[in-house]
Amino acid sequence: MGGLVALEGPDGSGKSTQLCLLREVLEGRQLDVVWTREPGGTVIGEQIRTVLHDLANDAMLPITEALLYSAARAQHVAEVIRPALARGALVITDRYAASTLAYQGYGHGLDIDMLRQITVLVTGGVIPDLTIYLDLPAERGLERKLVDRSAGQGEWNRMDQQALVFHRAVRAGYLEMAQAETERWLVLDADDTMQAIHQQIMARIEPLLT
Ligand code: TMP
Repeated sequence: MGGLVALEGPDGSGKSTQLCLLREVLEGRQLDVVWTREPGGTVIGEQIRTVLHDLANDAMLPITEALLYSAARAQHVAEVIRPALARGALVITDRYAASTLAYQGYGHGLDIDMLRQITVLVTGGVIPDLTIYLDLPAERGLERKLVDRSAGQGEWNRMDQQALVFHRAVRAGYLEMAQAETERWLVLDADDTMQAIHQQIMARIEPLLT
């Protein structure tokens, strides 16, 4: 058993809900599963997350963003992901390198090849066995986040402030990446019911558990 699974999705796609459901099911079994997230997952990574998501940092350049997310990822791979994979654990991460390509590449327009090179550098080539993408039109994602925000739930961060056109480009980026590697990606309609999405995720994760 073992492998790396990344959960990706635009803001408001229900990613956290699916992670909770998955965790409930997998924690009931005697399995070595590591739950982690980006940016973060390590002490240094969480410090970098604070800088990245600070609403006061609106002067941050896209390249600075890309390098900070990547720096956090380097720590994450070295401290958490690689050791866990080496002992045969299943690692489930809330976001991974596809987020940098989608947000800083497709969203902000940084050169995708350059970002891919940085990604290889910081991950040492560790790529997910499976990337699950919860797909939702950008408008719907932001709508959902605004509802959470007015109910005092969820985090509202600097990325959420970006214009709709940015979030549309991010979505197009995810779909392009998924299409280029269909065997490693699972694209799910985030507007489907919570349970239906959960079942499709389980069906793809199950083979990694044996
Ligand atoms: P989340 O923890 O609510 O998913 O929010 C993380 C935010 O960080 C989300 O808006 C996407 C953004 N992000 C990037 O822009 N690039 C990255 O490489 C990562 C990991 C996240």
